[in-house]
Amino acid sequence: MASLLKIDVSPRGDHSVSRKLGNEFLEQFQQANPGSTVITRNLATTNMPFVDLPWIMGAYSPEEARTPEHKAALKLGDEFIAEIKAADHILLTTPMYNFAVPAVLKAWIDHICRIGQTFKVNADGSYAGLIEGKKATIIIASSGNYGPGSPAESYNAEKPYLKLVLGFLGIKDVTFVDAGGTYVLNSGQTPIEQFTAPFADQLKSAAAV
Ligand SMILES: Cc1cc2nc3c(=O)[nH]c(=O)nc-3n(C[C@H](O)[C@H](O)[C@H](O)COP(=O)(O)O)c2cc1C
Repeated sequence: MASLLKIDVSPRGDHSVSRKLGNEFLEQFQQANPGSTVITRNLATTNMPFVDLPWIMGAYSPEEARTPEHKAALKLGDEFIAEIKAADHILLTTPMYNFAVPAVLKAWIDHICRIGQTFKVNADGSYAGLIEGKKATIIIASSGNYGPGSPAESYNAEKPYLKLVLGFLGIKDVTFVDAGGTYVLNSGQTPIEQFTAPFADQLKSAAAV
């Protein structure tokens, strides 16, 4: 039975374009995988501290040497990592903020990149991801357009970063849905359904795998 982890980042709730596209992906995923399980993680409403001294001390100590304070600091990251490991497919829906990932998404990434848990460093200094056999779909909504060949393409620090960090963890089968140009929705003259309709085929094929 297929399992999906749906991670939402936007704080805009029902107004979020990335979440609306993610919900369409979810429908397609459930149709393609009857009986699938879905875990939803809303980072916008998750009470998530930044990594701090107890977290760092804990993450770089052997498990048997961790104090209760270390363990408490690592607990939320343990939950995030367990959610990832339980999923066959990870769906990440996120806005672009200032050409990069929103801070809450970076905070989540800092929690899940854990030496010995999700990555290791080989003797020669190379990295090996420890999360294997997963697919990921990443939907990025942005006001402007940063697609291949567009004048602002070089400003897109979000897509290459997400590709890099997921690959670092071992997740290399990643499909990106570039939902650029959401500025047309600001005037209210373009209905959101008109904006999202052209993504239907891409979402369906991403959800089918
Ligand atoms: C703090 C902030 C920073 C933003 N930075 C960018 C940006 O760098 N480039 C861009 O095209 N849009 C930017 N936007 C616009 C959002 O990416 C756009 O509204 C997108 O649709 C938000 O995703 P959502 O609809 O899923 O909430 C920014 C919006 C906010 C609130």
